[in-house]
Amino acid sequence: MQPLNVGLGNRSYPVYIGKGLLGDIDHWRRMSAQLKLPQRLLIVSDRNVANLYLQPLQHALKTFDSTTCVLEPGEANKNLAAMTTILDELIAGGFQRDAAVIALGGGVIGDIAGFAAACFMRGIRCVQIPTTLLAQVDSSVGGKTGVNHKLGKNLIGAFHQPVAVVIDTDTLATLELREVRAGLAEVIKYGCIYDADFFAWLETHMKELLALETTALARAIRRSCEIKATIVARDEKEAGERALLNFGHSFGHAIEQVTGYTRWLHGEAVAIGMLMACSLSHRMGLLSAAEVARVSALLGAAGLPACTDDAPVDALLQAMQLDKKNAAGKQRLILLNGIGASEIRSDCSSADIRQAILDYTGS
Ligand code: NAD
Ligand code: GLY
Repeated sequence: MQPLNVGLGNRSYPVYIGKGLLGDIDHWRRMSAQLKLPQRLLIVSDRNVANLYLQPLQHALKTFDSTTCVLEPGEANKNLAAMTTILDELIAGGFQRDAAVIALGGGVIGDIAGFAAACFMRGIRCVQIPTTLLAQVDSSVGGKTGVNHKLGKNLIGAFHQPVAVVIDTDTLATLELREVRAGLAEVIKYGCIYDADFFAWLETHMKELLALETTALARAIRRSCEIKATIVARDEKEAGERALLNFGHSFGHAIEQVTGYTRWLHGEAVAIGMLMACSLSHRMGLLSAAEVARVSALLGAAGLPACTDDAPVDALLQAMQLDKKNAAGKQRLILLNGIGASEIRSDCSSADIRQAILDYTGS
């Protein structure tokens, strides 16, 4: 199948989606010839993913000179220490500007490895091989890279577009169901903010998606990447429209931070955050109660949580103050203006925001 294109002028790149791509020697040969990939590669992965997929990838890349750097898995390790481990490997290993980083893993690895590639010698090439549903539909595309600071999520980072994204849908077979559900939160997000027909399709295909049925899965991944690529091509550095992709994330990031990055997966926190954003949209007169119920039902059908009972509202409000979208002292939030339409608003009242949080914190 033809790759999708993320259209960014001379930094445009292909997103390949298919079964078995990770270990497909011919795919890598063709792709590296087209993209003129360098010989010297640093494969960055986490322990879980490396145990499953490092060997087949190394085999597919056997004509390259590749070294590996394996990090501890998990959001709690998405920090400057992990980033330094990669930089140490690049510097001590004598890598030069013409090398490339291959990020093999979920969004955590993609974000850290992409950030290391952005910083080493002011930027070397990076190929993303996302192995979670969340990373395949979201984090591997668009060039946002970075790590967390103890005071807030993703506060340290850079825009650094990959030179290619290789999505092997077979890797999802080893993913825990909870992680599949978390990825579906971001898939549902695209329907909510951009595409009412896709949202309706998701309402009738959730069972197939949870069962990782090939055709449904490929369609959901492709449509998600298409929407993301379209928005990123129009607004790479989030001067405006790209912020829509953060629907539910201001609340979600705060939930993750306040609960110590261990209670909820990113996608789960985003799911609860999307419910809060829907409640706020309803309070602002933008979304009907019936539409809020549809979003809630779809997230529920995906098996996502609807409430966080261990995040006090004041702590969440404080964490949201550090959200990157805020500007001129104003909280900027993404609201739904009906299903499939979204907008950025900075006129939400503190009382409405507080109440929207309370609706889904059980406090
Ligand atoms: P993750 O990277 O922590 O992966 C989840 C878990 O699944 C990990 O334990 C990992 O080892 C394991 N795993 C990965 N692939 C596997 C496979 N195929 N089989 C078995 N186990 C596998 O989490 P995630 O949900 O992929 O990513 C979340 C991160 O992505 C967050 O840090 C979030 O901020 C970031 N993110 C970034 C962007 C962006 O635009 N850069 C967008 C969305 C999310
Ligand atoms: N996940 C939000 C973005 O990439 O902009």
